[in-house]
Amino acid sequence: MAANDQAGTPRVFTLEQAGQDMLAVDAAIRALMNFDYGTRFGRLRDLYERSKSAQWNASTDIDWSYDVAFGAPLSAGYGMRMAPFAASPGSPVPQELWNDFRWQYQAWMVNQFLHGEQGALLTTARLVETVPDMAAKVYAAAQVADEARHVEAYARYVDEKLRVTYPINPGLRTLMRDLLSESRWDIVYLGMQVIVEGLALAATRIASAGFGDPIITSITKMIARDEARHVSFGVIALQGLYQDMTSREYAEREAFLLEAIHLMSQRFLLREIWERMDIDPARGIQFACTDPMMVGFRQLLFRKVVQVLRQVDLLTVPIRDLMLAEGLATPQTFAAAAQAG
Ligand SMILES: [Fe+2]
Ligand SMILES: [Fe+2]
Repeated sequence: MAANDQAGTPRVFTLEQAGQDMLAVDAAIRALMNFDYGTRFGRLRDLYERSKSAQWNASTDIDWSYDVAFGAPLSAGYGMRMAPFAASPGSPVPQELWNDFRWQYQAWMVNQFLHGEQGALLTTARLVETVPDMAAKVYAAAQVADEARHVEAYARYVDEKLRVTYPINPGLRTLMRDLLSESRWDIVYLGMQVIVEGLALAATRIASAGFGDPIITSITKMIARDEARHVSFGVIALQGLYQDMTSREYAEREAFLLEAIHLMSQRFLLREIWERMDIDPARGIQFACTDPMMVGFRQLLFRKVVQVLRQVDLLTVPIRDLMLAEGLATPQTFAAAAQAG
């Protein structure tokens, strides 16, 4: 039974539900205190200054008064923007379920954003302890405050407005388990700041243009601005780092990325939505793998990841091959990243 808040509204997030499904990870990490306070931020200075002046308040900067009527018929314009692939030829979604699909798609997406935000909150807090550079510790701490706000905003939206939850996607769960037990700080950056946040940046930008109600539109717009800084933090921290690594260390990073990219590509096959809507998951996944609009959507999401991997010297041949094989990129994606520098 759902718990009630003070106003008597049943809540979708309750301790009894959460207790069933906690991800507990033991980790042995090396926490570092650095007594060199003299660098005064170097390349992180601008980013840190921007981070301080761009803080916002999820309680007061979002107008929460709009009533989101989950499941209500969507206007034609809204339907056009939201998950238009429901109506693609070959779609397993029958026409009478398009409206329901678009709402489930929005709920699934926002719930996955929420789980990803909690992942970012935990892993970035870990970086405060493990990264050796003092400026990076301080910047990471500022990012922790951003991620707390993102969790707050999405959780409130799900709890008060959508009232529909989805559990963490298995691919993201596996990646979080890996990252939370990881002792090498640069791999935490690669997994979170490069892969998860690179995808989140693209996804929140697409979502802020595509979701139909003003609350989620303003939440995603504000969050996308913060995420752009977080991806830059990863680039600044990792640029130049891999040139000095041994070939074995470099190969370990490559192996991690191959696994992480594969896990994340599985994330966008919408299995949980097919299951919830009683649509044959095999058919749904087949559609998600091959429908040109969905393939294009994944390629759009992975474009930033490609660009960042190139900037940190990790866009290796096996990684490019995997992205081509899984339809996450095209040769043009790599050429565009090379041109962007
Ligand atoms: Fe975030
Ligand atoms: Fe972030």
